[in-house]
Amino acid sequence: MGKMERTLCIVKPDAVRANNAGNIIAMIQAAGFRILGMKQISISEAVAGEFYSVHNERPFYGELVKFMSSGAIVPIALEKVNAVADYRALIGATDPAEAEEGTIRKAYASSKGENAVHGSDSVENGMIEISFFFAGSELI
Ligand code: RTP
Ligand code: MG
Repeated sequence: MGKMERTLCIVKPDAVRANNAGNIIAMIQAAGFRILGMKQISISEAVAGEFYSVHNERPFYGELVKFMSSGAIVPIALEKVNAVADYRALIGATDPAEAEEGTIRKAYASSKGENAVHGSDSVENGMIEISFFFAGSELI
């Protein structure tokens, strides 16, 4: 059996606006993830920029920061054996045109920029990203 891990999902503003958050959460739960914490919030450009600061030299950074602060988001802390890789598989490729059938991005993303969900890319970043949005007392 693999290791119990935690990962961070964010339902992005495009998916919240389209009322797809519930369907996305249902797909995540059906895939066996346990929800440790979840909330609906909105973040400033400064906070979005801090969250995605690893990309601050990339050409899409400005657009990404504007998009992520353009409306409500739903950060969700998740736990499961092999959570990081399994959740990345569940969301599919960054560009929905390349996402496999049955993935969240295939079903709900509209473009490479507005792609419905975020997923942590490593176990270490999963822990860092969960603590970016949740206090320890909010994880149950
Ligand atoms: P995420 O971090 O949100 O889970 O996405 P990811 O790992 O699949 O992709 P990443 O390379 O980390 O990019 C972060 C987010 O930036 C936006 N993006 N836009 N227009 C573009 O070429 C472009 N490339 C990336 C997307 O919202 C992507 O999810
Ligand atoms: Mg990423």
